[in-house]
Amino acid sequence: MSDRVLKIVIHVVRLILGCTFILSGFVKAVDPKGFSYKIEEYLQVVNAQFPDWLNLPLVAAVVICCAEFVLGIYLLLGLRRKFTAIATLTVCVVFTIISVLLVIFHPVHDCGCFGEFISLTDAQTLIKNVILLGLAIMLMRNPQVAKPLVPEGWQWFVSLYTCVFIFVFCLRSLYYLPLIDFRQYKVGADLREMVFPTHEDIKPEEISDFMVLDTLSEDQTAQILFKKEPTMLIIAPLLSEASAGVAERLASISDWCNDKGYDIYCLTASPLKDIRKWCYYNDAEYPFLIADHTLLKTMVRSNPGLMLLRDGVIRNKWSANNLPEVEDASVDEKQLEAAVGNNGKILLKILLWYLLPMLLIIMLSNIIRRKTKSAKIPKVIKTLKTPKDSNTSNNSINSITTKNTKTMRKKIVAGNWKMNMTLQEGVALAKELNELLAADKPNCGVVICTPFIHLASIAPMLDTNVLKLGAENCADKEKGAYTGEVSAAMVKSTGAEYVILGHSERRAYYGETPEILKEKVNLALANGLKVIFCIGEVLEEREAGKQNEVVAAQLKGSLYDLTAEQFANVVLAYEPVWAIGTGKTATADQAEEMHAFIRQEIAKQFGPEVAENTTIQYGGSCKPSNAKELFAKPDVDGGLIGGASLKAADFKGIIDAWKE
Ligand code: 13P
Repeated sequence: MSDRVLKIVIHVVRLILGCTFILSGFVKAVDPKGFSYKIEEYLQVVNAQFPDWLNLPLVAAVVICCAEFVLGIYLLLGLRRKFTAIATLTVCVVFTIISVLLVIFHPVHDCGCFGEFISLTDAQTLIKNVILLGLAIMLMRNPQVAKPLVPEGWQWFVSLYTCVFIFVFCLRSLYYLPLIDFRQYKVGADLREMVFPTHEDIKPEEISDFMVLDTLSEDQTAQILFKKEPTMLIIAPLLSEASAGVAERLASISDWCNDKGYDIYCLTASPLKDIRKWCYYNDAEYPFLIADHTLLKTMVRSNPGLMLLRDGVIRNKWSANNLPEVEDASVDEKQLEAAVGNNGKILLKILLWYLLPMLLIIMLSNIIRRKTKSAKIPKVIKTLKTPKDSNTSNNSINSITTKNTKTMRKKIVAGNWKMNMTLQEGVALAKELNELLAADKPNCGVVICTPFIHLASIAPMLDTNVLKLGAENCADKEKGAYTGEVSAAMVKSTGAEYVILGHSERRAYYGETPEILKEKVNLALANGLKVIFCIGEVLEEREAGKQNEVVAAQLKGSLYDLTAEQFANVVLAYEPVWAIGTGKTATADQAEEMHAFIRQEIAKQFGPEVAENTTIQYGGSCKPSNAKELFAKPDVDGGLIGGASLKAADFKGIIDAWKE
């Protein structure tokens, strides 16, 4: 798959996963109580015990819906990409395992993935979760593809605002009633028609559990539903768990109903002793009817809740926390009906409270980022020519660097021993070099990159103030059954600090593609190694004038998914392949031209500040005799040395080119 196609695919994957998680988190946050009932069912299946005061199902419901929503936003905005990919995969694995168990054992009816919003069969749930798992795996393999929509410095705000928003929204849904009623008992529903259907297209089983009995077990369903006058229903699934603080309020509502000549009942699933207790302690004079516990929990998400019925139709519903004010005798039932909240408008307002600040932050943070970037661009960069222009003439080299900024950048001379030196020879060379540099301190960073077998032996011998150690390669896999490979973590464990990646010899002889190198770079950086990343064109490409294009593609193919912070640990090495080991050096002007171009590309991608701080080495037949001229160029910050690094005196000669 080409890079471009892969990028598009991963964007789509992110979008699908993000939207799914946001939807699933949000609809659960609309009705957290409903979701907590579902969790209760799951906990009963595994016979989980938990103390009542903890209310584990409700706590878990709030935590899960908030986590899903936040994860969805992270996916959509491309925030904390590695963490998000791991979290998404973990969640998808867990969901898939649960859905396999659902298909095999059918422990609960309806998985509850989308709360009460969408009801899926077990098989549909499994298919959905397998698809999401596949997408999560794809994302896990390419977590860095998406660019964050919000710059790093602003991401904490987005995270905090999202967490606070969804949590407060959950609390609101719990305090009042769900803004969207996903069940049959929504305001406006014709209960009579649903329970005693006169039209064939209404399935009676949809609401077949609606039945209320008096305390003598006489069915009172029809009496309530066929009443033309208003009927007030206090819905208290379990009186022992009902908030008794509202009993006084319920009593005045009961008085108001009596004054108006309306019926009022309390529907409960509580045993008689609890009903008596409630009446005794709360002076409740309204009659009680018995109904199924689940039915009552479904009718109103509050204990107690209130429902106004007229002509068999639900006219309004209230939670215990916003019961209607009826102390004033002039309040009539029409006013109570008219007080139906405009939930659509409220929901829109709430969503705008989230979306507007978020859009503002996304726009503002990006404008500020762009502004600070361009403010920091030295004047010369603004006159930079396009890549094509810049290779047409040596005189048109536009460096964004000056001598001053160059001195601020780290200069590094690194040796690449390639496949040379036995262990004994290598140890001797390292020892000699270490002594030379300890005696005559270099005024640049010096690194020797050796074959793997030397690393552990050489590392303890080096005075790291003057000489550091690196490997020549590392694996593109983290660990496991990859015979013969050496991982970044292994390299790091030897004491090495650097690793060369993308060397033209590895690209040419070992088929290392930009994708493979991307993996290697990510792993090396993740394991705390600094990367010396090699780029460079072959002779035919230079002769065809394509060197800039080639080098830009190499940079883009493996490094552009890094953040600026990650990129700070990358040293670039421009090595024209035609100059490696051939004795044919690029002229200092050719090197400078390409280095300036590379820096310009880095500035475009990571900003001028990062570009100015990026060390760009030259490699390819660099010797003591030509090092001074090369290093004198403003954009050449050192060398990556092959052949000449195998002799301590030659290597030292190149290092000393940095001395006046
Ligand atoms: P030479 O210095 O031998 O040309 O090799 C350059 C190189 O490939 C360093 O990585």
